[in-house]
Amino acid sequence: MLKFSRDVEYRDGDEFTLVSLFDIHYGAAACAEDELARDLKKFGLKDKTFFIGGGDFGNNIKVRDRRFRFSELHPRYYGRDSYIEDVYDDLAAVIMKHTAPEQWLAVGDGNHEQHFIQENSTDPMKMFCERIGYVNRGGYDYMVVLNFHQTKKGGRGSGMKFVIYVNHGWGSAARTEGAAITKYSRTIMYYYADMYLFGHTHGLWAHPMVRIEPKVRGEGFKEKRVYVAECGTYLKTFLERKEPTYSEMKGYSPKVLGCARFTLRPNRIRSVVEVESIV
Ligand SMILES: [Fe+2]
Repeated sequence: MLKFSRDVEYRDGDEFTLVSLFDIHYGAAACAEDELARDLKKFGLKDKTFFIGGGDFGNNIKVRDRRFRFSELHPRYYGRDSYIEDVYDDLAAVIMKHTAPEQWLAVGDGNHEQHFIQENSTDPMKMFCERIGYVNRGGYDYMVVLNFHQTKKGGRGSGMKFVIYVNHGWGSAARTEGAAITKYSRTIMYYYADMYLFGHTHGLWAHPMVRIEPKVRGEGFKEKRVYVAECGTYLKTFLERKEPTYSEMKGYSPKVLGCARFTLRPNRIRSVVEVESIV
């Protein structure tokens, strides 16, 4: 696990948006490229907006994989010997068109990247990061510490930190609504963060919880909202054609396409970064 830090200067009243991109599965015939482009266009290149990535950016099922079927692959890649590289290259081009490298806090791997590394000793996200030109390359899980601070005359004012824990996720796709909340919310016992972002089972939800602690100075308690979230996907569950997708054969429920987003409001008076989900 790696940790990345980012200084963020703010003024009172500022609002920041965090956009989390997980499970794009680019290169799959069922990847909703139009929805991805629409969302990147809508949320990218905006002031005070950050992006964070949680893996499975490419689908990466190679020809000799027992899961491979031609119908799972986007026809654009038929006949290409370097199809995996081309997928990450094309996705990097789409992302670079709609976002700026400095907007990205970090990106990580999913099981589809890790499986590819294991089988081929080749790291597709490394190629992606080199192409897009930023360096915060997390693995399967990582943390990002945002240090919100104000610049005052004569130096830097006191800051507030906001910690994001990212893990691609694990386990089979549950058929029970709510199972993923139970599974992922346990993580808050083991890793100290203000927000926990997961993917893997392609749900799109954000579950707010409240953490209460006594104030170190002064009377009373400090309440802080903590989110555990699953950050969505751009992989459609089914396509209108005879050939079934992997999801159809596995009986996965249709997924809401999109990405989880959050508003972060550094509040100097309360000494807390307030957070709200806009899933
Ligand atoms: Fe995935």
